[in-house]
Amino acid sequence: MSVTASVPAKVNVQLAVGGARPDGFHDLANVFLAVGLHDEVTATAADRLRLTCEGPDAHRVPLDRSNLAARAAELLAARHGLAPDVHLHIVKDIPVAGGMAGGSADAAGALLACDALWGTATPQDELLAMCAELGSDVPFSLVGGAALGRGRGELLTPLEVSGTFHWVFAAADGGLSTPAVYREFDRLNPSGVPEPEPSPALLAALRDGDAAALAASLANDLQPAALSLRPSLAATLEAGTAAGALTGIVSGSGPTCAFLTPDAGTAEKVATALRESGTCRTARTTTSPVPGATLVG
Ligand code: C5P
Repeated sequence: MSVTASVPAKVNVQLAVGGARPDGFHDLANVFLAVGLHDEVTATAADRLRLTCEGPDAHRVPLDRSNLAARAAELLAARHGLAPDVHLHIVKDIPVAGGMAGGSADAAGALLACDALWGTATPQDELLAMCAELGSDVPFSLVGGAALGRGRGELLTPLEVSGTFHWVFAAADGGLSTPAVYREFDRLNPSGVPEPEPSPALLAALRDGDAAALAASLANDLQPAALSLRPSLAATLEAGTAAGALTGIVSGSGPTCAFLTPDAGTAEKVATALRESGTCRTARTTTSPVPGATLVG
């Protein structure tokens, strides 16, 4: 028997970063939107924990116990006094180490698929607590939609969104390490930063489904750090906005760049221009918000 979960990527439409905490994490006001790029995680009973992965970026995915999906299976099994004897197969479509929570998506998918495979029927609040233990972005991968994340991003409040936003995502060659980007953020802000707060204008733009207003309030405090580590992203951002995007922003800790566009037609045009610009590895169109981790078979 096999169970498959489909899990979306995310973009941060606001990522306000506070100072480093004693535990090394940063307090955030993190406005997440789930976007329609998905990984699939299939859990099949096996004689031991085993991981496989397919997709263009599969060679960059670790298949040992450092993989967050493997840790998710181990955590759920331990919680229920079971052995984590499962084969997890990941069909990878979310850029690896791209700032779109691909690893977190795989962890949320593994939790959901293993919970169904093992018949452990874990209550949602316990699943969310396990997600938070696995990583700051994992709870959002489970719930999807749109949410404000406080704390290190794991304390979620759902947000109201009207309509559909049209995006283009430009994936870069290679990834960026999230801890390295946060370290660069600290280095670039030696005299401290204000308390992170959600932007009322941005929350109103989401509620109204107003793409132009959302574009005007998109903000990522990690963007200067990502650009400092990867200066070539400036050319990607420039190419997407020159092609007609309302605005471009680094997605999370990068290096994927996200472009908000007024409609699906403009998104296709921007994606084509980005592919032809030579400033990114590939460009994809998609929409938001979309539901979180879902069992599909
Ligand atoms: O929670 P997660 O394991 O995804 O975080 C990866 C790394 O990103 C952390 O070890 C930390 O360096 C950094 N981080 C942070 N503040 C956050 C989230 C992540 O400093 N709110």
